[in-house]
Amino acid sequence: MLWGVPSSWMAAFYPGTEMFIEKGEGCHLTDVDGNRFLDMSQCDLSMVCGFGPKAVAEAVSEQFNKGSHYLLPTKNAIATSKLLAERFFMPFWQFTLSASTANAEAIRISRFATGRDKVLLFDGKYHGHIDEVLVSPSDEPGKMMAEQLGLPKKVVEGTVVVPFNDLDAVEKELKTGEIACILTEPVMTNLGVVYPEEGFHQKLRELTKRYGTLLIIDETHTQAGYFGGFTNLWGLEPDILSLGKCVGGGVPFGAYGLSQELGEKVDASRVVETDGKQNIGLGGTFYGNALNTAASRAALEHVLNEDGYRRVQRLASKLADGMEEAIRKRDYPWTVFRLGNRTGICLNKALPKNGAESSKCIDRFFNLAIRAFMANRGIWEPIFLHGPSISFAHEDKDVDTYLDAFSDLLDAFQTMRIDV
Ligand SMILES: Cc1ncc(COP(=O)(O)O)c(C=O)c1O
Repeated sequence: MLWGVPSSWMAAFYPGTEMFIEKGEGCHLTDVDGNRFLDMSQCDLSMVCGFGPKAVAEAVSEQFNKGSHYLLPTKNAIATSKLLAERFFMPFWQFTLSASTANAEAIRISRFATGRDKVLLFDGKYHGHIDEVLVSPSDEPGKMMAEQLGLPKKVVEGTVVVPFNDLDAVEKELKTGEIACILTEPVMTNLGVVYPEEGFHQKLRELTKRYGTLLIIDETHTQAGYFGGFTNLWGLEPDILSLGKCVGGGVPFGAYGLSQELGEKVDASRVVETDGKQNIGLGGTFYGNALNTAASRAALEHVLNEDGYRRVQRLASKLADGMEEAIRKRDYPWTVFRLGNRTGICLNKALPKNGAESSKCIDRFFNLAIRAFMANRGIWEPIFLHGPSISFAHEDKDVDTYLDAFSDLLDAFQTMRIDV
């Protein structure tokens, strides 16, 4: 296997040899050497339902025995659409295999609907492995650069990246009339956590409507913390809402919802081959298959339900309160952020307002030290961009275990006289 890990970002962020996993159960992972870890990362929030949730395991097993895929829709696909529509208020749904592919389709639909090509993103974002979202501002003012190797040189011409919370910068770009869509998370989650300023989303919606740009809200991470994500919590009104990760209950799955107006437009674009006209190119062989729609339905009904979210939020508050108290006692100048099921340390007294500020609140080597310390205490900590998070399988005792280790960690920092 190239690099010994499945993704190049893992090769970049994990500097040592990685563990090989034997099994997961609930919120624990056991490696091939028999070491057991309390999982505070949930595979980058994709396994928030826990490892092997009973209802999902049964649904998957039953479906697999009947056939995992028919290249035709199933009752579970309809049921999953309804469940998603109820919590995210988007009436039309379609399925993919990941959040990346959901975002790729969302961008394509935006181009179809607006007749424009460009995508606007916020600095510090991550929306998947699609070419046009792997672009960041370069050191040259106003110029973009490709974030990784292997991307086409022209990729920088189709994407504009501006600071989060900077509505003047957004409006300046929208005024060009070239932007098909803004793709954003409701709260940025891939560089620590960056909250929108008051009124930001309302104004973003107003501006996108005024300039004929579509608004895509990516709730891939944020859905893990709130029933219906921030779209439900704050009453956001995107044209497209994209999902992946935990919505599949642990099985590869992605989904996107469309507003009434856009859904009707896409639906009406259907042509049959004999018309001699072109369709919008959406979908893939395994998209919306019988297995992952069965898994998603079971996860939405039995795990990711309102009771489950209430429990997760309570445990996450307990975790954040405990971390805050431990930090306050030792007088470190840090802030604990909170986001539904997730928390973490911002190495600053004030929370950041955009990606540039957020990168100053994170220290990669500090996080590596935490990860090594926690791994030796039997805790699997996320990479430096994220903080610990609670899954639907965690219990009070797991939070207590983490907080004990966290307290010892801060004591160890003091003993080592690490000046932070
Ligand atoms: C907000 C957001 N959108 C999309 C993605 C892409 O998810 P996947 O790699 O599962 O396609 C990620 C991955 O971290 C993400 O954080």
